[in-house]
This record gives sequence, C-alpha cells and structure tokens, in this order.
Amino acid sequence: MKAIVPVAGIGSRLRPHTYFLPKVLLNVAGKPILMHILDSLVALNLNEIIIVTGHLGDEVEKFVRKTYDFPIRFVSQTEPLGLGHAIWCGSEHFAGEPLLIVLGDTIFDADLNSIVQKDASVLGVKEVSNPSRFGVVVTNSEGRITRLVEKPEKFVSNLAIVGIYFIRNSDLLAECLNELLQKDIKTKGEFQLTDALQMMIEKGEKFVTVPVEGWYDCGKPETLLETNRFLLSKKPYNKTISDCVVLPPVYIDDNAFVSRSVIGPYATIATGSVVIDSVVRNSIISDGARVESYLLENSIIGNSAVVRGSFFQMNVGNSSEINSV
Ligand code: UTP
Repeated sequence: MKAIVPVAGIGSRLRPHTYFLPKVLLNVAGKPILMHILDSLVALNLNEIIIVTGHLGDEVEKFVRKTYDFPIRFVSQTEPLGLGHAIWCGSEHFAGEPLLIVLGDTIFDADLNSIVQKDASVLGVKEVSNPSRFGVVVTNSEGRITRLVEKPEKFVSNLAIVGIYFIRNSDLLAECLNELLQKDIKTKGEFQLTDALQMMIEKGEKFVTVPVEGWYDCGKPETLLETNRFLLSKKPYNKTISDCVVLPPVYIDDNAFVSRSVIGPYATIATGSVVIDSVVRNSIISDGARVESYLLENSIIGNSAVVRGSFFQMNVGNSSEINSV
C-alpha cells in the first residue's frame, strides 16, 4: 500500500504567509501542518509515501528529507490544475497497489488503520449542517456510495467528503484520471478528484463511507487558529516560566525566549521566537519571530517577523477616562 499527499496548491487564502512559506510548513501547535500528517502516515504499514509538490516545492522537499527517514518520493505538479491532476501526477508510482490519499492541509483524528483494512474503497465523511460548501456523497440503503456531488446547490446529502480517500483499485483510479485529462473534463475550472471517483463508481468500484469526527482544516487563518486551539487542548503543558504567567493550553518551544509576558490560552510560541513584555492569546508566533510590548489575539505572526509596540506614558487626572478602541 502507498499513500499520496498533494501539497502543490498555492495557498492563496493564507497569504501573505504562503508567498514565501508553503502552506504545509506553517506551524500549528508546535510543528508544521505536514508533520502532523506524515507522523500519522509513517505509523501505517506503507511501502512509500508520494508527495506531490508545486508552489515552493523545494522548501517542502528540503524539510521532509531532513526530518524523515522513510521511503518518500517527490513528484512535481508544474501547474495547479486541480486535485485530480495532482493525484494523476503521481499515478505512475502507485500502479498496482491500494492507495491512501490524504490532503496536505487537513489534520485528522481518525483511525487510519481501520480505514485501510476495509475490503472496499473508502471515503472519509462527516455530517455537516451546510453541505452546499462541500463535496458530498449519496449512499444507498446498504451504505454503498452511489453518487458524489461537488458543492450541491439543492440538498442531496449532508455527508461531506473530508479529504481522506482509500482506493482499493488504484489502476482504475489512474485510468479514470487519464480519461479526465484526455477528454479535458473540468469542474469549476479544475480537474477534480471527485469527478474521477464518480467515474470509478460508474465503472463498478465499490465505495463505502467511514465517519471521521476529527477533521481540522488549516486552509484559512481562522481555521488554522481553530486547529491550533484543538491540538493544543489535547497536549498538556506543565512547565512554568519564572517571570511569565502561562495560561494553558499553550505550546512554548524549549528554544523560544519568553519573558515578562502572559502566554495563553491557546498560544503557540515556536522555536527561536522571542516574546517580551507582551500578552499573546489564541495566536501562533512562528519560528524566529519577535514580539515586544504588544497585546496579540487571533494573530498569526510569520517566521522571523517582528512586531514591536510600546508602552504609553500618561499623566492622567482624577476621574478621567481613557479608552483604546
Ligand atoms: P486547496 O483547494 O485548499 O488549494 O487544496 P490551495 O492552493 O492549497 O489553497 P487556496 O485555495 O489557494 O487557498 C487542497 C489540497 O490539495 C492540494 C493543495 O496543496 C492542498 O493540500 N492541491 C490542490 C494540489 O496539490 N494541486 C492542485 O492543483 C490543487
């Protein structure tokens, strides 16, 4: 069995961070998004992980090569033509083997082992209240998937596809992806993986659903911070810092310097960063960033960025009122 992780997208919703850093290397709860994903994949019995790179792909490759001693192959997608196209780029390397597809910007809390032991192909799904924003699956009375619909305008199902796909017959997947490309079948301007999966269903491949409760998107600033909150809340932090107030859950890297500050709740302070005379909550301070004399909330401070404020000097008489809005 192999796994493929497409990370070639440009990550436009996370600009400016993604101008210089690939989305998957953004820090969440103390390590890059991609590390959360790969750590769960290397624990499976895989022959190889294929990573599809594009935008800032060299950075991804450099990071993965120095961090993992595991058979990982890099293939490049020269243009971001869609998820279906990204998977097609790796197709010559997964022929003949079951394939696990995991999106590069979503962290899962799912039992991958039980998914890959199914004797059918599997889509991870979650019930959502707003299905029109997602790709959804329609199932029959036996739980077999009969149809996939991308962002349905009319209600057909509330089971959203969450970004974990297990494909038993990967040769048929490759065949369907080839057909998409040859016939130039695009939906919303892109070669969609869901279109290839729909073709597979029509050609007889059995697909079933597996509910995935823990599904944490990292694609937008607000969802990245939400995922940061969730992951931090699962990890205890018991250290104290003599001249700081630490309000868990937090992650403060051992190689960060934090002084005269209030950290947390829900703050990630990454390696090499410096926080002095500040309050940081519900925020991510990335590698080597510096925050001085500032109050930060709901913020993402990029690698080596500097945020420097100042204290106010006041000479305020009795019964005066000063408000910062
Ligand atoms: P997204 O749809 O989130 O696209 O891709 P994106 O480029 O990463 O982000 P935005 O929309 O510009 O903000 C979901 C996953 O599929 C990969 C992405 O890297 C991400 O892991 N992908 C998407 C590709 O590898 N290639 C593509 O052509 C499209």
